[in-house]
Amino acid sequence: MTTNATPQTFLVAGATGSVGREVVRELLERGHTVRALTRNPSAAQFPPGVEVVGGDLADPGSLGPALDGVTGLHLITFTGGGYQPLETGPEIVALARKAGVRRLTVLNGGGPTPLEDAVRESGLDWTVAMPVEFMANALGWADSIRTEATVRAAFVDNVSAMVHEADIGAVIATALSEKGHAGQVYLVTGPQALTVREKVAALAAATGREISLVELSEAQALEKYLADGLDESTAAWMIDVFKNTPPEGRTVIDTVQRVTGRPARPFSQWATEHADAFRA
Ligand SMILES: NC(=O)c1ccc[n+]([C@@H]2O[C@H](COP(=O)([O-])OP(=O)(O)OC[C@H]3O[C@@H](n4cnc5c(N)ncnc54)[C@H](OP(=O)(O)O)[C@@H]3O)[C@@H](O)[C@H]2O)c1
Repeated sequence: MTTNATPQTFLVAGATGSVGREVVRELLERGHTVRALTRNPSAAQFPPGVEVVGGDLADPGSLGPALDGVTGLHLITFTGGGYQPLETGPEIVALARKAGVRRLTVLNGGGPTPLEDAVRESGLDWTVAMPVEFMANALGWADSIRTEATVRAAFVDNVSAMVHEADIGAVIATALSEKGHAGQVYLVTGPQALTVREKVAALAAATGREISLVELSEAQALEKYLADGLDESTAAWMIDVFKNTPPEGRTVIDTVQRVTGRPARPFSQWATEHADAFRA
């Protein structure tokens, strides 16, 4: 439940990312002081009031005074655009402990990682957010919807319980700023399990455009991923995730309501908020 308890100071990593920026926004709304970590402070844009700090998680020495006075630290598990696992978890956790940080949250990257292991072994109060597919993945269709009002996808009748990034941010901000979430691993889903057909229909309704759905075979989908620049193992992984979505990726659970006290946002809302990205 949202509370405006005593204002505290939080450091948010991944703050320019699709989830991190929502963590920043939520913490600000709760009246806290928020430091946003980025490797490129001059390029970053944040809401007024955010303290922007430069630093690289892959080089913990660069975090410098960013941790001074911080009660809670939000972490990602990867480094760089290719999502390489961060190997510096133990150093980051040691710095956080030394600085007096009491709570850690982690955005899970889909499996165990050295950083998440270090957080779980830190002895501090930690919480892991394990989201299913982000609604923002629909932005991958933005170009073809904008230019030819068409989505090309495989497995169009398989469902995903995809989650709004703002709800992931709200769960993380709650766990970071309120008591009662230590040692929890929160699977975070949206409020509905939707097929690709249903998602395309929601985008059509939000944009007021007719959008065609062209169903691809598995082989055509693989070819498209490779043509889009994915390497072979990532492309094969994508095929597997959409073809054989595990039960947790297609089953709605009430984490958002339970942790934040607010209902999870539906895809129709996400589509309305992002409609301009799909307009010609
Ligand atoms: N997409 C999905 O459906 C999905 C589902 C479940 C889980 N996930 C997980 O979510 C994570 C991706 O989160 P996202 O989409 O919010 O990320 P994103 O939008 O791709 O943004 C990446 C963020 O990471 C920061 N970053 C990268 N390397 C860094 C470093 N060495 N030091 C400091 N900051 C660094 C970037 O900051 P700067 O560039 O500003 O430095 C940026 O804020 C991945 O772990 C992924 O596995 C994704």
